[in-house]
Amino acid sequence: MKPVENNCVTVKVPADAEYVDIIRLTLYGIASKWGFSYEEIEDMKVAVAEACNNAVLHAYEGTSKGHIEVKFEMQEDGIRISVKDEGSSFDYEHKEEEATSLHNKDLNEINAGGLGIFMMQALMDDVKVHTEEGTEVILTKFLQRNGELA
Ligand SMILES: Nc1ncnc2c1ncn2[C@@H]1O[C@H](COP(=O)(O)OP(=O)(O)OP(=O)(O)O)[C@@H](O)[C@H]1O
Ligand SMILES: [Mg+2]
Repeated sequence: MKPVENNCVTVKVPADAEYVDIIRLTLYGIASKWGFSYEEIEDMKVAVAEACNNAVLHAYEGTSKGHIEVKFEMQEDGIRISVKDEGSSFDYEHKEEEATSLHNKDLNEINAGGLGIFMMQALMDDVKVHTEEGTEVILTKFLQRNGELA
């Protein structure tokens, strides 16, 4: 694996469902190069696609379509993926509370929709959302170093 510094790849695509595949393919290429397992990559692909779909569906509603910028960065302990749009944002604290409260609900109480953030939290090791200008979702997956001391 390459050294951690200078290990950053950025892809910027139109905020359109047709381009989410490009992000998924890029993630696959990068995460396998950086040593993640097939299962870890599959989980990351779902989480990143959810973040991209949110940008496609919610960020640019009613306005002319913008872009999604996805930045992949290898850090000492894992991969950090930022999914950023410049559209209208939302109240993340409130949505996060709703997502957390899903844990205590029966399956039939959960409405369709509103599962994207919950899935990202379940599939990644850390999820942060910045909503100052548009939305930036930062997804982190730690790299398991099998056999090495922590
Ligand atoms: N990039 C974004 N820009 C603007 N609003 C967003 C963005 N991402 C999420 N949201 C808001 O947060 C809500 C919750 O997102 P979440 O992905 O959890 O559910 P959903 O997209 O409504 O449904 P699902 O993902 O289950 O199809 C969205 O309905 C939307 O209001
Ligand atoms: Mg969603």
